[in-house]
Amino acid sequence: MALSTGSNKIKTAIFISGTGSNLKSLIKFSELKKSPIIIKMIISNNSKAKGLKYSKIYKIKKKVFDFKNSLSEKKVINELKENNIDLICLAGFMKILSKSFINNFKGKILNIHPSLLPKYKGLNTHEKAIKNNDKYSGCTVHFVNSKLDSGRIINQKKVRIKKLDTPKTLAKRVLMQEHKLYPAAIMKILSL
Ligand code: GRF
Repeated sequence: MALSTGSNKIKTAIFISGTGSNLKSLIKFSELKKSPIIIKMIISNNSKAKGLKYSKIYKIKKKVFDFKNSLSEKKVINELKENNIDLICLAGFMKILSKSFINNFKGKILNIHPSLLPKYKGLNTHEKAIKNNDKYSGCTVHFVNSKLDSGRIINQKKVRIKKLDTPKTLAKRVLMQEHKLYPAAIMKILSL
């Protein structure tokens, strides 16, 4: 028998669009006794997202919504409220959420971004860092507000850029750090 039933843990939904390696690392983290979260749902805007496979593997409810208009977003909000979700972690989620969606979960949405914010908001972050001859790239976990990649920063990890790095090799090393940074950010904001 597991010691913790998880009943006192923060009910969390993870939003993904692709591979879901951050989702996997968050699931692993949530299984630890010390983890303050329990993952109740995986939500995606992409029915072909590879990461949806973790729903079956770890027996976590999954739902796909297209997020194309406010009606679709309303359905997501209802789903999250019905499941008493209190924390949303965007993990490689490639849709921009509306202001109204964000207002429904004020201070309860986190995102992981593959750059040292406020540098390089948006896409192709590693390419930009290499082009600019930066010494470091990295990743950031931040609260989500209505401006893209601009909410309050929770934590960051620097990753040194090597001479022969391509965006792909750099992304791979940064991703390894992301898998540690997201759980650490959650611990930082939730374990008092
Ligand atoms: C990560 O680099 C994340 O920071 C970015 O998209 C990537 C998603 O990777 N927003 P994964 O789907 O978690 O493997």
